Amino acid sequence: MGEEKLSRRKFLGRATGTVGAVGGVCALYPVAASLAPSKAAMAQSVAKININDLNEFELKSVPYKGKPLFVMKFPPGYSLEKWGGTAKEKINYEKLKPILEKQKNVVAIIGVCTHLGCIPIWEKNGGKNGIPIYYCPCHGGVYTPWGDNISGPPPIPLHIPKQKLVGDILTVG
Ligand code: FES
Repeated sequence: MGEEKLSRRKFLGRATGTVGAVGGVCALYPVAASLAPSKAAMAQSVAKININDLNEFELKSVPYKGKPLFVMKFPPGYSLEKWGGTAKEKINYEKLKPILEKQKNVVAIIGVCTHLGCIPIWEKNGGKNGIPIYYCPCHGGVYTPWGDNISGPPPIPLHIPKQKLVGDILTVG
């Protein structure tokens, strides 16, 4: 009898726990779904970013054509020399120099690793001697703040989309 009571109690305990867990998952789903960018937002072919609230070296990531777009404000006059790292390739650096001058030190690059498509992480002090880099956690790819690939498997720099600043609005696409 005691055993029967105990097993019934155990059963009820487990059943309640299971129902609670399922209920919890169901309750969290709408929250998670609302936090994820909508398909429409991710698919948008033009991104408009107000650069007014950007702080230097603070990454802003916005959806653009189903990919993250990395918008970054550089400190004025920031150069490879000031960055202090070693970059064999300076492809993006050279391309972005005139864009930075025209766009109040703000540029947008596509935040998709050119190796196998992971999303690199902005590490403001993550490079050697605390220099800022983009780090791809999938296979250890490293890029400069301009998106030039400097180590690991990425074969080419991060892509630079067409962009134009009018007033404080950066239009990409
Ligand atoms: S996907 Fe980025 S290093 Fe492989």
